[in-house]
Amino acid sequence: MGARSSGDQQDEIDWIGCLTYKSVATATPSARDLDMLAARARGRNRSLGITGMLLFEDGCFLQSLEGPPAALSKLWASIQRDGRHNHIEVLSEHIATARLFSEWDLLLEARADLVPSQNSPVAPVPPAMSEHISQLVELALNADDLRLNAIIAGFADQGWTSDAILSLLIEPAARALGDAWLDDVCSEIDLTIALSMLQLAGHAVRYSPSAQTIRNSHYRILLASAPGEKHMLGTSLLADQFVDAGWQVDMAFPESDEALTNQMRAQHPDAVDLGLSEALSRSGAIDLLRSTVQHSREAAGNFPTVISVGGRLFAEAAATAKSVGADHARTGLAGTSIRLAELVRQHRKL
Ligand SMILES: Cc1cc2nc3c(=O)[nH]c(=O)nc-3n(C[C@H](O)[C@H](O)[C@H](O)COP(=O)(O)O)c2cc1C
Repeated sequence: MGARSSGDQQDEIDWIGCLTYKSVATATPSARDLDMLAARARGRNRSLGITGMLLFEDGCFLQSLEGPPAALSKLWASIQRDGRHNHIEVLSEHIATARLFSEWDLLLEARADLVPSQNSPVAPVPPAMSEHISQLVELALNADDLRLNAIIAGFADQGWTSDAILSLLIEPAARALGDAWLDDVCSEIDLTIALSMLQLAGHAVRYSPSAQTIRNSHYRILLASAPGEKHMLGTSLLADQFVDAGWQVDMAFPESDEALTNQMRAQHPDAVDLGLSEALSRSGAIDLLRSTVQHSREAAGNFPTVISVGGRLFAEAAATAKSVGADHARTGLAGTSIRLAELVRQHRKL
C-alpha cells in the first residue's frame, strides 16, 4: 500500500464529539434511582451511538459523553432540560478521532473504596521542575484549564519537545494527583477532572515523529487500559503518538480479559499496550495483569504480537515487566511508538 496524502486521511476520519460536564443533583438519588437512570440512558445511548460514563459523588454528577456530533447535541439538549440536576458546567467540549469509552453505553460509577497507599518510591523529578508540577496539580484540582494549558503551551513555546513535556510535567503531575487522592486531599471526582485536564493539555502538544520510515510503518496497535482500570490518561495520550507516527490505532477500555482477547482475535494487532493508572501505583494489579498478558498471548496465537505494559507501576519499577511476562514495559509515555516499532520489526524477523 502506498503512502496516503494527509487529505485522504482527513476524509477517512469519523470525528467523535466529546463532552464532559459536572452538575449538582436537585435531590439525592438512591442507588436504585441511579441504576434506573443509567439503564434508561444506556438504551437510548446505544441507539444514538453514544458511549460514556456517569459518576455520582457528594451530590454531584460528572459525565463524559462521546459520539457522532449530531446525536451528541440531540442528547445534550435532553440532559440540559432534565430537572434532576442543575448548575450544569461544561468542563470540556472537543472532537477526537477515537473514543475513550468504546466499551460502555454508559459506565456508572459511585465512589470506589480507597486503595491503601503502598509508600512506593516517588519517581525522580528534577528539583527545578517540582514547583511547576505543584502548580499544575493545583490548577488541575481547581479545574483551571486555561492557566494549565497556558503553562504547558509556554514550555512548548520555549522549545520543549512533546516528549519532555510528557515525561517531566504531565506524568509527574498525574502521579502527584494520585498521591493527593490517596492522602484524601481531593475526591475521586476532583482526581478524574484533573486527569482529564492533563489529558487535554497533553493532546495539545502533539508528538512529532522524527523518522519517516516509522511514520509509514502501517503497523496496527491496540491501546487498551488493563481490564477494569478506570484511569485512561496514558492510553489516551499514546493514541496521538501512534496516529502521528502512521500506525493504525484501535482503543479499548475492557472490563474483562475476555472482552480484551475478543477484540485482539478480531483485529490481530501487531502490538498491544496494556495501561495501568498513571496516577496510582496499582501494585495489587500484578497478578491480574500477568494473567491478562498470558490470555493476550493465547489470543495472539501464532501471530507475532508485541505486548507492552505501562503505568505508574512500571515507571517506578520497570523490572516488573518481566514478572508479568510482557515484551516491554514503558517507563514513560514518550517515545513509545518508536520503541514498539523496533520491537515489532524484531518479532517479525524471529
Ligand atoms: C446526570 C444525568 C445524566 C444523564 N445521562 C443520560 C444519558 O447518557 N443518556 C440518556 O439517554 N439520558 C440521560 N439522562 C436522562 C436525560 O436527561 C433524559 O431524561 C432522557 O434522555 C429523556 O429525554 P427527553 O426528556 O428528551 O425525553 C441523564 C439525566 C441526568 C440527570
